[in-house]
Amino acid sequence: MNADTGLRHFLSLNDLSRDELLEILARGEALAEGGMGREGGGGRRALEGRTVALIFEKSSTRTRVSFEVGIYQLGGMGLFLSSRDTQMGRGEPIADTARVLSGYVDGIMIRTFGQDTVEELARHATVPVINGLTDRYHPCQLLADLLTIRQILGEERLETMTVAWLGDGNNMAHSWLNAAALLGFELRLAVPEGYDPDPEIVEWAGGRTRVLLTRDPEEAARGAHVVSTDVWASMGQEEEAEARKKAFAPYQVNARLMGLADPEAIFLHCLPAHRGEEVTAEVIDGSRSAVFQEAENRLHAQKALLIHLFA
Ligand code: CP
Ligand code: NVA
Repeated sequence: MNADTGLRHFLSLNDLSRDELLEILARGEALAEGGMGREGGGGRRALEGRTVALIFEKSSTRTRVSFEVGIYQLGGMGLFLSSRDTQMGRGEPIADTARVLSGYVDGIMIRTFGQDTVEELARHATVPVINGLTDRYHPCQLLADLLTIRQILGEERLETMTVAWLGDGNNMAHSWLNAAALLGFELRLAVPEGYDPDPEIVEWAGGRTRVLLTRDPEEAARGAHVVSTDVWASMGQEEEAEARKKAFAPYQVNARLMGLADPEAIFLHCLPAHRGEEVTAEVIDGSRSAVFQEAENRLHAQKALLIHLFA
C-alpha cells in the first residue's frame, strides 16, 4: 500500500502480507462455494458502478474472461483494451496512459512484457494496478493455485506443504518463490542448466523458507504434495521453442514422476498446456490433476483480490 495515498496495487505477491494473502484465499473459497452474500465471502456489489480497464499486450483466455466475468459479478464493468488497437501499441508513453486512464476508470489490470512497465503504470496511476502477467511474475495465477491447494489439501497444507516445480525458471517459478517466502512452505525447483529462475529471487526466498534448486526432477518430486509445471516456451519465446524442447525433455511430468510424489499429491498447471511436452495426457487428464478447478479458481480468487483492493 502507498502510505501517502492509501492506494493498493498488486504488482507481485510481495504486495500482500501473509495475513492478507490468507484472507484473500479464505474469501476466494467462500465465493467458490457459491456464496455471493455476506456469509459467502461478501462483496456482492463491491464494484458497483466501477470500471476496470483490462490491458492486454499478450494473448489470454483465462485472465481476460475471469476478470471480465468477475468484475461483472461484483457489479462493475471490465473494459478490454488490446495494445493492438490502442495508442499504447503505437508508442504512447505508459506514464501518459496511466494518467489518462486514471481519469476514466477505477482500476487497471495489465498483461505485458516487462515488470518495469507494470511498475511505471502503477507509479503514475491514481487507481489500483493489477499485474495480469509479465515476463517476471504471474501473481494472479498463484492466487488461484493456492486456492486450489486450500480446497483440496486443506488450509493447513498451505504452510506445511512441499511443492515441486518442474521445468522453466520463468514468471510462474518466480511467483511460486514469492508464495513460498510468504507462506513458508518448501519449494523445490528442478530446472535445466541455462533456464534457472533469477538468482536474486531464489536467494531472497531462500532466506525466508526452504528452497531447493536442482537439476534432478526426481529429487524435486519425491514426497511432494503439489507437482506443477508450465509450458517450455512462454509467450514471446516462440523462436526458442525447438532448443527448449531438447533442454526440457527430462523434466516432463509423467506418471513415473507423479509416482514419486506423495500418494495424495495434486498436479497443477496454469494452462494452456502442451500434452506430450511438459506433461503427459495421462497426468493432466488423470485423477490427480486439478487443472480445471485451478482454472475456475482464477475467477473466485480474483474476485477476492478485487474486493481486497477496492474495499
Ligand atoms: N493461465 C493463464 O494466465 O491463462 P491465459 O493466458 O489464458 O490468461
Ligand atoms: N509462462 C507462461 C504462462 C502463460 C499463462 C507465459 O508467460 O507464457
